[in-house]
Amino acid sequence: MPPESLQDLSGYLDACATSPPTEGVVRVMAAAQSSAWANPSSLHGFGLRASELLERSRGRLAELLGASQHDLIFCSGASEAIHLALLGQAGMAPPGRLVISPVEHPATIAAAETLLRQGWEVAKVPVDHCGVIDLVTLHELLEPPTRLVSLIWGQSEVGTLQPLETVSRLCRSAGIPLHIDAVQVVGHRLVSADALGVDLLSCTAHKLGGPRGIGLLLRRRGVGLLPLIGGAQEGGLRGGTEAVVLAAGFVQALEEAHERLRSFSGLDPLAALRDPLLARLLELPGVSLSGPAPEDREGRLPHHSRLPHHISLVVTTASGVPLPGRELVRGLWRQGLAVSSGSACSAIVSPASRGGGSAVLRALGYPESHCASGLRISLGPWLCPADLERVPGALEQARRDLETSAPGH
Ligand SMILES: Cc1ncc(COP(=O)(O)O)c(C=O)c1O
Repeated sequence: MPPESLQDLSGYLDACATSPPTEGVVRVMAAAQSSAWANPSSLHGFGLRASELLERSRGRLAELLGASQHDLIFCSGASEAIHLALLGQAGMAPPGRLVISPVEHPATIAAAETLLRQGWEVAKVPVDHCGVIDLVTLHELLEPPTRLVSLIWGQSEVGTLQPLETVSRLCRSAGIPLHIDAVQVVGHRLVSADALGVDLLSCTAHKLGGPRGIGLLLRRRGVGLLPLIGGAQEGGLRGGTEAVVLAAGFVQALEEAHERLRSFSGLDPLAALRDPLLARLLELPGVSLSGPAPEDREGRLPHHSRLPHHISLVVTTASGVPLPGRELVRGLWRQGLAVSSGSACSAIVSPASRGGGSAVLRALGYPESHCASGLRISLGPWLCPADLERVPGALEQARRDLETSAPGH
């Protein structure tokens, strides 16, 4: 049964789609809404109070993200930040080549398509069966006419973490600016944009217990950007009255996430919640992992690893016939569990998506028949081990219900 009240989060296993605002975030935003509601560009005391809070929020977020050598531009979310990074940086030079991967978020794909229409070339570095980019091909592509590289650090649908330190080193030694989409990583790992050496980094508040409607772009000083929205705000890089209250909520969410990470030596405690659940799910008939395996219990990192709060599965009948992920999502919700098939953004079926199957699973080499059979379970700090007890049984139930209703059963 779905929960009686949507206040009950014990069945909300869709953190990668969005996460509920924490109590602290709601409290901080309510306080900011009553004290700092004014336009931060106004010169009177009301405006000054709002502008002080905005600048304090900017400074604290930059500090938390290790970005002393970066400027921080607030945007409406990561989709906008990604567009500003790609189109804004591309606008500084004549058309060249943009390098991305085939497992990017739709926002990056859309920005790349805009650049294609503007005469740019777009190259996609292939990925292996786990979604990890081929570093040799990337290296080969880091020569003219390449002018920009953009990669998703933590893949939202299959959980892959790219070898960012190596990517960043390669881009730096080739002198090519690197943008990373860090949406699914920020809040789950301590990030230092300075130490990573990235030129541009996008993230968003709503995946880590903050409000929807605010994201940010970090821009290493000296990296050129043309604004997409004119206006004097954000150093002339993003017009529009700033969302001061949302910025305050973003800070609170990241403070809380970092406090949690710091109390576990920088490692996300959600991995310890995820691993036993994953082990039990993989014992079910017809259920297999997509994307990389988590790092082993001794903490040794394989050459690639996955987001700590992320499980992605491909589900078939016991005899191997692929089952529709969207139907499994509905079957799990009937039992009170909120999950998704693939990523929330790809659940919005676009005319370009062939047959509704996942382009990400396709890029990982899955046959077309299995590309609509993905299921994602993503965890957040509101969950405890007892909440997860019923998940394997519920998936087995949803799987069997579909199996028995499948034609030819
Ligand atoms: C990896 C990734 N990049 C970008 C975005 C877009 O973020 P926003 O919803 O803030 O525009 C998302 C959100 O689904 C995401 O998962």
